[in-house]
Amino acid sequence: MSQKTLRIALNGVTGRMGYRQHLLRSVLELRDRGGIEIADGERVAVEPILVGRDSAKLAEMAQRHSIDEWSTELDTVLSDESVDVYFDAQITSARERGVRAAIAAGKHVYSEKPVAESSSQAVELARLAERAGIRHGVVHDKLYLPGLLKLRRLIDGGFFGRVLSVRGEFGYWVFEGDWQSAQRPSWNYRAEDGGGIVSDMFCHWHYVLENLFGRVDSVTARATTHIPTRWDERGEAYEATADDSAYGIFELANGVIAQINSSWAVRVNRDELVEFQVDGTEGSAVAGLRGCRVQHRSMTPKPVWNPDLPTGERFREQWSQVPDNEEFENGFKAQWERFLHDVLRDRPHPYDFFAGARGIQLAEAGLRSSRDGQRVPLESLER
Ligand SMILES: NC(=O)c1ccc[n+]([C@@H]2O[C@H](COP(=O)([O-])OP(=O)(O)OC[C@H]3O[C@@H](n4cnc5c(N)ncnc54)[C@H](O)[C@@H]3O)[C@@H](O)[C@H]2O)c1
Repeated sequence: MSQKTLRIALNGVTGRMGYRQHLLRSVLELRDRGGIEIADGERVAVEPILVGRDSAKLAEMAQRHSIDEWSTELDTVLSDESVDVYFDAQITSARERGVRAAIAAGKHVYSEKPVAESSSQAVELARLAERAGIRHGVVHDKLYLPGLLKLRRLIDGGFFGRVLSVRGEFGYWVFEGDWQSAQRPSWNYRAEDGGGIVSDMFCHWHYVLENLFGRVDSVTARATTHIPTRWDERGEAYEATADDSAYGIFELANGVIAQINSSWAVRVNRDELVEFQVDGTEGSAVAGLRGCRVQHRSMTPKPVWNPDLPTGERFREQWSQVPDNEEFENGFKAQWERFLHDVLRDRPHPYDFFAGARGIQLAEAGLRSSRDGQRVPLESLER
């Protein structure tokens, strides 16, 4: 390939995800490492261009990180033929316009999730991207968590036998913002701004389930807003119109039942902020962000229910840690590298806009299930 530099326009870099995970830990890390290595040992350099709304913030950030270009004019950046890739980490409700414009300009597009506000919009973007012949991808960072990579290793090694069920617990207490400031942006708690835990987390649960355990067939969920009033970045009270907790059951096509609780109104009594327990006929595992503990069939205790006696078993101590056996990279950087390799090799990216659309479809079905009090089957999305 003759191209020696990939020029990447990054929109939404003043935000939490855009700055920390995508700019700092991924694109700048790749740039400072000398780009990405392609098959024959040759390297392709990576050059970020910052895009956003606040020129002062962009200029300061560009200077801090020795970035030559920044702009508040997305259309001008997209009309630059030397720009190869457009990335979008803006708030969800602002995403579609940027992505649509980038596709029209013939750029490869990488996006935070959800790629659009509805699955039909996401499918439309996917079709536009296919027609334009560009590479398109959506983040799927949880698959790269060391804990889930260990889970993947256990699955590939046949550890579980037949997988029966998956039990996920995700969440932590997000402060309301009055007494102590909230640790997440306020738009997350306003439905009109694209907030809500179902639309945020079900996209993740979809690709985790689909890639590790099997296709999701249906969902039964109950979403609710436990904390009705919160205080925003300016200290002003606002009504939380979006769901902050969701209790979901996901039935997979192969019979596996997954049940995942997601909540920003729960206090952590686990080892990690997310944990998945997988039970199989031959063994079980509990995987978190980094760790993964297992219990084999041969090491399974035989408890007997007797509330009259204190239990003599220390159940949590009966599990063994899965060793690392490798060095785990930052998941965001790893997925960026994967996407850029697919761009450079001109091959389809597996976590494309269609995969993103299926994640949004699950979120929509979850909200419908909650509203109607019914189990909602997922129809396969036409490409
Ligand atoms: N992959 C993950 O685990 C993960 C985690 C959190 C958020 N996200 C996604 O990342 C995206 C950004 O989330 P965040 O938590 O970084 O948000 P944030 O509020 O910290 O950042 C939002 C960014 O969008 C920009 N923006 C553009 N138009 C805007 C508008 N009209 N109002 C407000 N901001 C506007 C802001 O300037 C800022 O750069 C969302 O789509 C969210 O769903 C993904």
